[in-house]
Amino acid sequence: MTVDPAFEAALSALRDHGIAGPIDCALVLGTGLGSVVEDVENPVVVAYSALPGFPQGEVSGHARQLCCGTLFGRKVLIYQGRAHYYEGGDPAVMRLPLGILTALGSPPLILTNAAGSLRPEMGPGSLALITDHINLNGPNPLIGDTGDGRFVPMVDAYDPLLRDGLMRAAAGEGVPLGEGVYLWFTGPSFETPAEIRMAKVLGADLVGMSTVPEVILARRHGLRVAAISVVTNMGAGLHGGAPHHSETRDVAGTASHALRRLLRGFLPELT
Ligand code: HPA
Repeated sequence: MTVDPAFEAALSALRDHGIAGPIDCALVLGTGLGSVVEDVENPVVVAYSALPGFPQGEVSGHARQLCCGTLFGRKVLIYQGRAHYYEGGDPAVMRLPLGILTALGSPPLILTNAAGSLRPEMGPGSLALITDHINLNGPNPLIGDTGDGRFVPMVDAYDPLLRDGLMRAAAGEGVPLGEGVYLWFTGPSFETPAEIRMAKVLGADLVGMSTVPEVILARRHGLRVAAISVVTNMGAGLHGGAPHHSETRDVAGTASHALRRLLRGFLPELT
């Protein structure tokens, strides 16, 4: 696989900040979910802008920094915000942040995102574990990659053991946790009601603008992945759903407390 020329530079910048492996768990925080870092003990924070070649991500509701420290007893690296395909049209825009993880011990990766729901029982403010995805858009971050390793199997891409652990943690912490298939729309415009009806027919439960290319890249790197959606709204046209970015930010901000409880139950038991 192509080695990003910025890879060594970013790693050395992290080392200069005292960040080195092995990391027990890595997280990517989606829109409005930044408060998770409030639970981190002894945090070391590095702005993405201080890391050569690192994708900045230009979305409000993302802090654009990483935080390394101890979260519920485990050493974590948290990316507070991500870059999206819709920012520049590169499905592999998260290659460097995810590639860095391989040099830090290939920790399990927990992706989070804000999403629209297609299921009335998973309404705004609820959390849902992604069980599988649909890459309807076509762009794939491995296009242009070489070698047989690019033919990444995607059965159980969302690691069953991590999912079990998250489900157990949810039960233990009393956090309702739904499950569903996530369909990636590129954004940045939200879907039309007709597209949401189509997504339902195709078997989706959740819709969003991130995560899918990251899961493909992470699996290419051999990382174990789980992904959690924070439902911020019903899909466009469902039950009056007319999604808006400020709503995404605000609802995710409130729901982030449930995510923090989920992590409190999950991380100490992570194997
Ligand atoms: N669609 C796509 N992305 C989203 C949504 C949505 O309804 N809500 C939050 N992110």
